[in-house]
Amino acid sequence: MPVFRPAIRQKRPAERLSSLSSPPGSAGPAGPAGLPDLADPADLSDEADRFLHQCYTELGRTAELPARRRAVAAAIRADGTYDHTFAELEYGARVAWRNSSRCIGRLYWQSLKLRDHRDADRPVRIAAECVRHLREATNGGRIRPTVTVFAPDRPGRPAPRIRNEQLIRYAGYRVEDSGVVGDPRNIELTDTVRTLGWYGHGTAFDVLPVVIEAPGYRPYVHVLPQDCVLEVPLSHPRHPWFAELGIRWHAVPAISDMCLEIGGLHYPCAPFNGWYMGTEIGSRNLADADRYDLLPTVAANLGLDTTTDRTLWRDRALVELNVAVLHSYEAAGVTIADHHTEAHRFLKHVAKEERAGRVCPAEWSWIVPPLSGSATAVFHRYYDEADARPNFVRHEV
Ligand code: ARG
Repeated sequence: MPVFRPAIRQKRPAERLSSLSSPPGSAGPAGPAGLPDLADPADLSDEADRFLHQCYTELGRTAELPARRRAVAAAIRADGTYDHTFAELEYGARVAWRNSSRCIGRLYWQSLKLRDHRDADRPVRIAAECVRHLREATNGGRIRPTVTVFAPDRPGRPAPRIRNEQLIRYAGYRVEDSGVVGDPRNIELTDTVRTLGWYGHGTAFDVLPVVIEAPGYRPYVHVLPQDCVLEVPLSHPRHPWFAELGIRWHAVPAISDMCLEIGGLHYPCAPFNGWYMGTEIGSRNLADADRYDLLPTVAANLGLDTTTDRTLWRDRALVELNVAVLHSYEAAGVTIADHHTEAHRFLKHVAKEERAGRVCPAEWSWIVPPLSGSATAVFHRYYDEADARPNFVRHEV
């Protein structure tokens, strides 16, 4: 939805992962304590019922509710599971975004585009749909929030999964003495795909293949065609040397390892994307000491005095790195949000939710941007922390 080190008031810094990843050491789902046992038809029926009630009420279709409840209850009695209609799945996926308490970008939750591919069973078809997802979501740079939903887990029949945390990730290679080339976050995935036969070019920005794991199949490695991976080379509006650094980033953040939970059904393979907020790239991916660690490089090129922390060289380098990110995406015609605009939009979203009679679950330490926190409006208040369903959760693998 998503790793550190900004000063954080509510959570230990180590708990703030790049947006939407779970804190280290919390392998389990973000779910509430005393999770229902969904293999138990009674628990599944309760979850389904709660969801159907919410769905048909919010959609203003309560007349259909009694018959639909009976049909779902009968399916669960007969098969131990049930199917969502397209409308239920679309509503469920949108509300899963609305309930994503770590996401600042939820104002547009109702615009989420559903691609329903629950019938795609074989890994090769799933990979092909991931490629189409990226093309449609990228949309030449005018990024469209999109989710592709594949089959749910069924009793005794777990669904396929995507091993990558995002559809587009850069390889990380351990190199002798000098550390890592590429993104250190993806070293493990890189090692995995190398044992499966993939070779990279060894650059700092090699796009990793997608790995699909499905019961009964060997892990399926799919190299993404170049045309579905839009990337932005970074430059700075005032410092020509910046472009020479050869830094780039991809246009679409598409989370692919979170499970979409709707009405007691689990869709473990449901990649979704929004667009980037600049700080995710400029303050975290490229700046974190355990990621691309570029602050010392940027500071040196800016001619800053890095001999003491008190010159605030890191802070100044961070700002220029973020300027470069926003400038480059805009110049390339790729949707990106700045953190001030996104903060205002978020508060508008919270107000809208309140007007609709709902609380907006939000985690302060994830909502406040990792640059100039107190200069954004979202810093100066607290939020309701609730773990609502439907939602995108990270499950133990
Ligand atoms: N923080 C993650 C990254 O930098 C992406 C998380 C989702 N972000 C988003 N804007 N939808 O790759």
